[in-house]
Amino acid sequence: MAVGRRQLRIDAAELETHIQTLGAVGALPEGGLYRPVYSQPWVDAMALLERWFAQAGLEVRHDAVGSLFGRATGRDTEDGVVLTGSHVDTVLRGGRYDGALGIHASLAALRSLLDAFGRPRRSIEVVALCEEEGSRFHCTFWGTRAMLGLIAPDEPDVLRDADGITIGAAMAQVGFDPAAIPSARRSDLAAFLELHIEQGPVLASAGLDLGIPHTITGQRQLAVTIHGRQDHAGTTPMDMRLDPLVAAARMIERITLAADSMGRPAVATVGRIEARPGAVNVVADSVRFTIDTRHSDALQRLALIQQIEAAIGEVAAAAGVKVSIERLIELEPVPLDGEIRSLLTSAARDEGLRYLEMPSGAGHDSQMMAQHLPTGMIFVPSREGRSHSPEEFTPIDQVVPGVRVLARALYELAYR
Ligand code: HGY
Ligand code: MN
Ligand code: MN
Repeated sequence: MAVGRRQLRIDAAELETHIQTLGAVGALPEGGLYRPVYSQPWVDAMALLERWFAQAGLEVRHDAVGSLFGRATGRDTEDGVVLTGSHVDTVLRGGRYDGALGIHASLAALRSLLDAFGRPRRSIEVVALCEEEGSRFHCTFWGTRAMLGLIAPDEPDVLRDADGITIGAAMAQVGFDPAAIPSARRSDLAAFLELHIEQGPVLASAGLDLGIPHTITGQRQLAVTIHGRQDHAGTTPMDMRLDPLVAAARMIERITLAADSMGRPAVATVGRIEARPGAVNVVADSVRFTIDTRHSDALQRLALIQQIEAAIGEVAAAAGVKVSIERLIELEPVPLDGEIRSLLTSAARDEGLRYLEMPSGAGHDSQMMAQHLPTGMIFVPSREGRSHSPEEFTPIDQVVPGVRVLARALYELAYR
């Protein structure tokens, strides 16, 4: 028996209150949020979520890396756990919806099921994953990788933030023991579902209600360092300089042109650039900039990277400067589970929604989970496609349909 429309009641008012209340935790004076893992705003956010999970009657616990779980134990505890949720951390000057909405939506969906149908057959857990963005430490998916046993033994002592604090020390400062990380590993997970904002313009511009991702994009993040020659800005003739900033400018033009000419969904972004010594009257000695390049097709992704690296080499040779490239992150595109996708698309049809099966240009915890267990995602529209920005927004009447589809899918996975 499928779920009847009238049986699912999503508390939209409470959902909006949760979005806005958690959305104030980590607020920056200049606008936007910053809730990096193990920071005080992160601790405050987890405390708020723990209260809401407990108020919903769920069994609450943190794992060894700090991810927060709210569990509704099923009648049949041998048949695996259906996990649903997203990440609590944000990018610098981020929005109120990236990650957090998936946690709120999962809690609202679970509450509607418990109210309508009582105890599930299989256990359902809502999770606030401790870290996804890599904002503070050069690591991503810290919470998911802990659950999958993918944290290397040396990471707690090797990964450092801008102040030189290791992630292990940061964990300990807020009460989590890096030595206990192996205990976070889960072997009882049957499926993972993540509701997330689209973070792009596709759904909003087409007037669609929902996205059902089929692939999560592949990423390579690089750091490029160009070594020039530090000189006097006033006395060094233009034709006698080895200026790394000029070379960087030419490289950045070629890098973005390579993605642009390949066409959507190819992207390449230079998000950070630093010149040393960084003085107004000094020709720079060196420049370091980052590149984030993505494509949802494995071959196209490699072709784009080859074009980018060739352009960097050509510009460096022509400018007479030395260049080194460091690989920061490498993620292959990941397909999402076909059976879960059809569960989601039939739930969307049952709800009479206009949906699109599409690639995800953003990275998500689901791309780690999908490599180990059946995983699916639901996208709700982002106003004007804006995200990783204080402008991030989704009106509650565009959130609720996604929550209803999530509830229907959870019903199929955990009550049937
Ligand atoms: O960068 C991303 O796509 C994700 O927000 N970490
Ligand atoms: Mn993000
Ligand atoms: Mn996210």
